Amino acid sequence: MNHQPQESLKANILIVDDTPDNLRLLSTMLQSQGYQVRKALSGKFALQGVEMAKPDLILLDINMPQMSGYEVCQHLKSNPQTCEIPVIFLSALDQVSDKVEAFAVGGVDYITKPFQSEEVLARINNQLTLQNLQKQLKNQNIILQQEIEERKLAEARERAKAHQLEITLEELKRTQAHLIQSEKMSSLGQMVAGVAHEINNPVNFILGNLDPATEYAHNLIRLIKLYQKTYPDCPQEISQLIEEIELNFLIEDWPKLMKSMKVGSERIHQIVVSLRSFSRLDESNLKPVDIHDGIDNTLLILHHRLKCTSERPGIETIKDYGKLPNIVCYASQLNQVFMNLLSNAIDAVETQPFPRIITIRTSLSQNETSPSVIIRIADNGLGMSEEVCQHIFDPFFTTKPVGSGTGLGLSISYQIVVEKHGGKLTCVSQPGKGTEMIVEIPVKPY
Ligand SMILES: Nc1ncnc2c1ncn2[C@@H]1O[C@H](COP(=O)(O)OP(=O)(O)OP(=O)(O)O)[C@@H](O)[C@H]1O
Ligand SMILES: [Mg+2]
Repeated sequence: MNHQPQESLKANILIVDDTPDNLRLLSTMLQSQGYQVRKALSGKFALQGVEMAKPDLILLDINMPQMSGYEVCQHLKSNPQTCEIPVIFLSALDQVSDKVEAFAVGGVDYITKPFQSEEVLARINNQLTLQNLQKQLKNQNIILQQEIEERKLAEARERAKAHQLEITLEELKRTQAHLIQSEKMSSLGQMVAGVAHEINNPVNFILGNLDPATEYAHNLIRLIKLYQKTYPDCPQEISQLIEEIELNFLIEDWPKLMKSMKVGSERIHQIVVSLRSFSRLDESNLKPVDIHDGIDNTLLILHHRLKCTSERPGIETIKDYGKLPNIVCYASQLNQVFMNLLSNAIDAVETQPFPRIITIRTSLSQNETSPSVIIRIADNGLGMSEEVCQHIFDPFFTTKPVGSGTGLGLSISYQIVVEKHGGKLTCVSQPGKGTEMIVEIPVKPY
């Protein structure tokens, strides 16, 4: 009968017994089963032997002079190098207390003498198999741990990659948004500037000629009046024409007509100046400007959306301007910001019932070391939820119907204010109450 499993064929067993006969008997039995056997006649020799070469298992007698089996076992268990070697006690002592003690000091099994060789072999084989399985388990655990670590590392790498991709995507979106907006603004600006330039000359002709024309008319009327006074009895042909052309009404109406023509053409002139100054194509550099001019020009351009018509009530704009120094900035870009903010405010109040109010307040911040101007554009429109507020500066974020909003206005404004001018753009809003957008621009260039 063979008890050894394949893997324990060459197992190395140390037998410790102070009785040479016992040693011989056991070693013959084990060797016949293919085990490698070493022998020790005392606890001291046993410990020395273990130190030289670690056995796979120890058969340990308990009753020995000088050092008992229990002590030998305790020594072995207290040393990390040897604590894992399984120890099977072999003893003539068969009290339960002896067995309990044997297990307490770290033994894995207990065989009572006299023993049956079959039993000894079976128990040794069990322990060796157990030992083997434990080793395998330990190795597998180590491999598993390594795999887990590797997976964790790979996951972290993937996460980092995904994060990097997200950043790149955001960056791309911003760049794309910027490109679209600057393309839009630059072609719009060029067109506006072109049209304004074309209109400018003819308007100037009209404006320039209106005063002399008024004067000529005035003189002609004076002449007619003098004629009438000098020759009160005019021929019938003349008095017929006087009636036909309603001369009295004409004399009365003509100056009024000239006056309203002057008002009209002055207004065209003013709009042309505003358009040119809004587009400021010639001024792409930093330059000191009056912020209030920029806001007023923008309001003028948006006039058609603010005024009252037969279809909708007007939007009241309240200006509360503080005293501001000129600001060194990219003027046309800041005008874009005002345009975007005011357009959004108009969109927001248009959804509300009467009265619709947009308030524009400007002030100088109190911080003396680096003063900045603060422009607040508040509306009593539909306001925003917390959720919307968190996304308004994202490129392409819009709550407006498809086709009516690009969702670029605020993201571009943010770039212009924060990145180009080192300022701040913030938003305070409540659903149903309205919105206040706050622009802060340092007085000194960024
Ligand atoms: N004053 C405001 N009141 C309420 N909501 C606003 C206001 N200003 C901005 N929003 C919200 O922020 C979103 C983003 O505004 P943004 O100006 O960037 O894009 P848009 O106005 O939708 O489109 P675009 O300006 O490109 O035509 C708007 O769709 C709107 O939901
Ligand atoms: Mg907008």
